[in-house]
Amino acid sequence: QEVFTYDPGFTSTCSTKSAITYIDGDNGILLYRGYPVSELAEHCTFIEVAYLILNGELPNAEQLAKFDSSIRKHTMINEGLKSFFNGFHYDAHPMAMLTGIVGSMSAFYHDTTNNKDPRHREIFAHRMIAKIPTIAAAAYKKYYGQPFMYPQNHMDYSSNLLHMMFAVPAEPYKIDPVIAKALDVLFILHADHEQNASTSTVRMAGSTGTNPYAAVASGIAALWGPAHGGANEAVLHMLESIGTKDNVASFMAKVKDKNSGVRLMGFGHRVYKNFDPRATIIREQCHKVLKHLGKENDPQLELAMELERIALSDDYFKDRKLYPNVDFYSGIIYKAIGIPVNMFTPMFAVARTVGWVAHWAEMVSDPTMRIARPRQVYTGAPDRKVQPIASR
Ligand code: CMC
Repeated sequence: QEVFTYDPGFTSTCSTKSAITYIDGDNGILLYRGYPVSELAEHCTFIEVAYLILNGELPNAEQLAKFDSSIRKHTMINEGLKSFFNGFHYDAHPMAMLTGIVGSMSAFYHDTTNNKDPRHREIFAHRMIAKIPTIAAAAYKKYYGQPFMYPQNHMDYSSNLLHMMFAVPAEPYKIDPVIAKALDVLFILHADHEQNASTSTVRMAGSTGTNPYAAVASGIAALWGPAHGGANEAVLHMLESIGTKDNVASFMAKVKDKNSGVRLMGFGHRVYKNFDPRATIIREQCHKVLKHLGKENDPQLELAMELERIALSDDYFKDRKLYPNVDFYSGIIYKAIGIPVNMFTPMFAVARTVGWVAHWAEMVSDPTMRIARPRQVYTGAPDRKVQPIASR
């Protein structure tokens, strides 16, 4: 007799072994390949961290130059793939476009998807990491009806994304190095987070041997939800709906009323029950960026700080160990930079692509890999006979 454990939401089930990311939720620790995320955010670029997550070690100068040049080489997307954007309605959500376009990459780059060949795995990883900012920026341009801007391969990863989003052919666009650096830090913080819903989705899809671009598209779909990557967008909508500090008390009353269905977005985490180490760094970045842009008195930042202050001293949140998560402040930074709200989750997707491809590669190169096939507790009708239609 087989024995199964019922574990809705996988709160206590380890679906895999992994050497990529370590989280200690009780003590607010997050390590990529053994390095604290705070140290990586302080000393490394996103591209160095991407190399680390993919390869297990930080690169030396030569390895970094080779990796960086390979990523730069792959930034263009096939012109045929570009025309797919025309099929989307003008107001399509950029996450819908991202899901569809990344899925369709499986029809363009299928020459190197033998998951047993390390060189193929590497080309897939480099293509995916290089092209995702180009696709995200193109989704933004489609939404605004502006011409797509080609990548500029002399630019670093984050500057290139800013260029592809904000430049227009008619006038030059000057990259602000403080903003580019802030974006790079945000990307480092979002690069991986062990078996979160989207990464687990990529692993589950990938475990069937499906095309890896299709597996990443499934991860993008999972990321979109407001309980996961969509939370950064939901935080901004929440701040807009609260409006001013005067309404915080009545909003908090709604959050604590279980029948209201209202949650304090950007708060709480399945794993972190003390604090989210990423939130601490993002909070700092948020103040830095707003100060740099002369927006330190931004009313939404003040409102967010007031919400945080009240929540952290409230028994409802204390009892449930609910603290600000990575998404509480990221949206405020994105908004200050000029990134529209519906592009917040695509920005998360750009960064998390590194984690998705690293987990996919780790899984498919493991000789003990098996198809992911959870069981269920059946709650339906017992075995019964089909009745003739006249007597149903
Ligand atoms: N506001 C109000 N109450 C909350 C919140 C919140 N944000 N989060 C959890 N709770 C309450 C929940 O009602 C429950 O209360 P009770 O024990 O009385 O029934 C308790 O706390 C436990 O909640 P849960 O839903 O069982 O916890 P979970 O681990 O399944 O969910 C979560 C984790 C992140 C989905 C949840 O905290 C949440 O919905 N937060 C808001 C959305 C959000 O910010 N998501 C981003 C997460 S970080 C980035 C990422 O992972 O992508």
